Amino acid sequence: MMQQRPPMGWNTWNTFGPNIDAKTICENADLIVSLGLKDAGYDYIVIDDGWALEDRDEQGRLVPDPKKFPNGMKAVADYVHAKGLKFGMYTCSGSLTCEKTQPGSYDHEYVDAKSFAEWEVDFLKFDFCNRTPIIPGKYLFRRMGAALANSGREILFSACSWGSEKTHEWVKTTGASMWRSTVDIANSFESIKKLTLKQLELLPYNGHGCFNDMDMLVVGMNNDSFIDGTMGTNGCTLAEQKTHFSIWSMFGSPLMIGCDLRLISKDALEILTNKEAIAINQDATYSQPYRLVCGGRSDERLVFARLLSNGDFAVGIFNLTDEPFRFTFGTDEMGVPTHCGKTLAAKEVWTGEEPKLHSGMFNEEVEAHGCRLYRCRVIDA
Ligand code: GLA
Repeated sequence: MMQQRPPMGWNTWNTFGPNIDAKTICENADLIVSLGLKDAGYDYIVIDDGWALEDRDEQGRLVPDPKKFPNGMKAVADYVHAKGLKFGMYTCSGSLTCEKTQPGSYDHEYVDAKSFAEWEVDFLKFDFCNRTPIIPGKYLFRRMGAALANSGREILFSACSWGSEKTHEWVKTTGASMWRSTVDIANSFESIKKLTLKQLELLPYNGHGCFNDMDMLVVGMNNDSFIDGTMGTNGCTLAEQKTHFSIWSMFGSPLMIGCDLRLISKDALEILTNKEAIAINQDATYSQPYRLVCGGRSDERLVFARLLSNGDFAVGIFNLTDEPFRFTFGTDEMGVPTHCGKTLAAKEVWTGEEPKLHSGMFNEEVEAHGCRLYRCRVIDA
């Protein structure tokens, strides 16, 4: 089925790495419901790397680690489904997964897709480590895409090749509904900045059917994420987390929560459940965000606009620099020139503030690493 909106959910990797088990997953699934996250749109519970034994069984199938999943995988799927949520899993296009503790699906794509269908999996993340250098990535992703499409179950295919081998040029040939357009996120503003800047050239490839995935969110993560060199530990301030969530919303990335919901603060939960930001992310017409001229030369001062399905605009100001900056920019570039008698009524998503535009110009001082995210109505000037 054609994917109409960026998928939303929760994934084990950012906080737990390979240290996962059924209990942790089910407790987080409980909280997705009880904290109101399901109502906000988060409906996939995804188990990342580290769930299988080192060896396949005698029929060549992957085996869930019985220490971590004592009742098997179908039991976890049943638990998740009983909550009205969808169930996701992970494997890899290479002979081993990225963590190297379990086999990848190389040359076992059809067998594994069958297991996933039997366990009633709804979502599969497919990674790119430890692959054979003699087969192009696109062939490997097409294999799993075809295997899933023939598994007898509708399984959303989440491609994770980090944008390598020019993924954007071929990913839509694989049946994927989302594709990782970035390297792995770390729990730092530096990382958020790096992923954002990398994304700018890839925005034309985002859209219905297959969404650019900027990686799982670090909102709500404490400094206790697993450490194996992948996930940094310096963390982000709340203001930085808002900027992160605003960018992912504005750019239409899948929103996959990466924190331990048992430890989430009220403030972080408020970020993840902000209705207006989510509405921008999930807007039915995924129209491409575009950059506006905003004064100042730095590449790290970004203003983006996006036309929404009801004729409103989303406007995001993202100050990725380490200095405050006064952003001034007009609405002409958005197709709303004041001399045609129109202007915008703006409402800020996080504060509810309604700044007045003068002669069709925004004029906002934004703190270092801060943002403004507006929903704007077109009104008579
Ligand atoms: C890669 C992916 C991550 C995560 C890990 C698991 O690094 O990009 O998102 O799935 O593998 O090992």
